[in-house]
Amino acid sequence: MAPKFMLKLTFKLVMLGKVLFRKMQLLCLLLLLFYLCRAQTPTCPRKCHCDLAGRVQCYRVGEVPKEIAKTTRGIYISHGKIKHLQVTDISSMSALEEFVLTWSGTESVENNTFKALDALRTLELRKNKLRHIPTLLPGSLEVLKLGDNLISVVHESHFEGLQKLRVLEIQSNVILALSFSTLSSLSSLQSLTLDGNNMEYVSGTFYLPNLKYLSMENNKLQSFSGGFFISLCNLLFLNLNGNLLTSTPSDLPASLLTLKLERNQLKMLKFGDMRQMAHLSELFLSENQLSSLEGVEFLSSLTRLELSGNKLQIIPSRLPVTLQKFDCSNNLIERIKAQDFRELHSLKHFFLDNNVVATFEDGALQNCTQLSNLALEQNLLSSIPLRLPHTLARLDLKGNSIQRIKEQELKNLRHLQVLNLRNNNISTIDHSLWKYLPRLRYLYLDSNPWNCTCEFLKTRRVLTAKGIDVKGGKCKAPSESQGESWMSSRKVLHLCAHNNLYSLEEGEEIGKNTSVDNPSSLRVNMDDYYDYEIY
Ligand SMILES: *[C@@H]1O[C@H](CO)[C@@H](O)[C@H](O)[C@H]1NC(C)=O
Ligand SMILES: *[C@@H]1O[C@H](CO)[C@@H](O)[C@H](O)[C@H]1NC(C)=O
Ligand SMILES: *[C@@H]1O[C@H](CO)[C@@H](O)[C@H](O)[C@H]1NC(C)=O
Ligand SMILES: *[C@@H]1O[C@H](CO)[C@@H](O)[C@H](O)[C@H]1NC(C)=O
Ligand SMILES: *[C@@H]1O[C@H](CO)[C@@H](O)[C@H](O)[C@H]1NC(C)=O
Repeated sequence: MAPKFMLKLTFKLVMLGKVLFRKMQLLCLLLLLFYLCRAQTPTCPRKCHCDLAGRVQCYRVGEVPKEIAKTTRGIYISHGKIKHLQVTDISSMSALEEFVLTWSGTESVENNTFKALDALRTLELRKNKLRHIPTLLPGSLEVLKLGDNLISVVHESHFEGLQKLRVLEIQSNVILALSFSTLSSLSSLQSLTLDGNNMEYVSGTFYLPNLKYLSMENNKLQSFSGGFFISLCNLLFLNLNGNLLTSTPSDLPASLLTLKLERNQLKMLKFGDMRQMAHLSELFLSENQLSSLEGVEFLSSLTRLELSGNKLQIIPSRLPVTLQKFDCSNNLIERIKAQDFRELHSLKHFFLDNNVVATFEDGALQNCTQLSNLALEQNLLSSIPLRLPHTLARLDLKGNSIQRIKEQELKNLRHLQVLNLRNNNISTIDHSLWKYLPRLRYLYLDSNPWNCTCEFLKTRRVLTAKGIDVKGGKCKAPSESQGESWMSSRKVLHLCAHNNLYSLEEGEEIGKNTSVDNPSSLRVNMDDYYDYEIY
């Protein structure tokens, strides 16, 4: 026996050896290839990666590597330590189209460093410690990104000759005041970002006919001089979020599609003098102190209106008929009237959560025949509004004071997929109601004072059979079922079957686990399901 065994073992070892040997061969081959490849690009510096398209990427270098080929077209350095960028570093690389130096603690750039690079199109020096905009930039430049530095002054001479510049970013610097006339030479400029500078003041006459995107979010702007925007005749997007504005700027260009004025100090708005904004599609006014909004009807192309976090007590009258998304959450709205929604045939998303709505006129949204999301949570409703549009896919009524659910309230909702009734005052639901909701997938019923009678088990059976994900909550009554989880409790089932008050169906034998109401078996996070975009 023993010699045979030894033979087998030896054989196995030999085989193993052969396999290992082959693997080693492969490894050697790979290593050889690697070195051959490197040898083909002998100039690629240490800590850098060079590719065939003439791009060099370096990481954690202490200087711009000397060995970079003169024919290089793109240099990308990040997380290096390059305090001063010098003329000698790159000025002879005449093919250079893109130079990116970020996160490298760079404090200064020597005069003329970029001057001779007449192929340079993109210069990005974000996330450094620059105090000045580099001087004498080449006229070929199209994109200049200087965000997250310590630049405090913008001077006309910085931009002289940059007639091709399309994109200028100087966000997160320390520019306190800006005269836009310093930018007047940038005749091709399309996009200007000045966010997060603590700017208190912008002024000047300027003419940037190609500017489409202007962002000055998170500054300290209180107002604009009259006519400031007038020359921006092609502006599409204006972001003034997070400033100290008490009124909308006058003379906004008629070309605007998106206007952002969130987090300012607006109190009252009249759009009568905004008649010219016939193209405006999105208006963001959340988190101001608005108590009234007049003349919204003049914004005749508006599709999105954001008014969350203001002090509105009534829905603004004559909302534009083009409206698709309307967010009026976190206000002081008390009442929903049919007349406000009569013409809103395009409305798809309506958010009215966190108000004090106690009255909701019957059929108030009936004409909104595209409405798919209605958020009414955290209000004072005592019943589900009647005659909601049948197109609704999700209806959120969490945190109201609803006590009963009636047939006619749900009858029409044949597209409803998500129904949230969590945290109301409902004790019982008739099992026959669920037939009206053939598409229901998620149902939230927890935090209600459920009365788990034996009749109630029918509801449970129907919901289980339909495969709906139910968050059911706990029974409050009768006393023997108190605290039981009503979708899965075997005790409730047992009590009723025992007293012949409930007949078990096939597959419903006592002891069988139902999968619903068991958080780990659910497909979605059982916290509220807020992904309204999916419909
Ligand atoms: C760099 O140029 C600026 C103006 O273009 C000039 O004021 C400054 O003295 C120059 N610095 C050096 C070191 O030449
Ligand atoms: C629905 O729209 C029609 C036509 O615009 C109008 O006559 C009717 O009063 C509207 N109904 C409601 C409930 O607003
Ligand atoms: C909940 O409903 C009961 C009657 O079922 C009522 O007595 C109670 O006041 C209601 N509670 C609230 C907070 O509405
Ligand atoms: C629960 O329902 C039963 C039967 O309808 C009723 O008799 C009982 O009073 C209800 N209990 C509570 C606490 O509402
Ligand atoms: C029910 O589920 C629990 C835990 O999920 C498990 O421990 C138990 O064995 C299951 N009972 C039956 C009868 O499948």
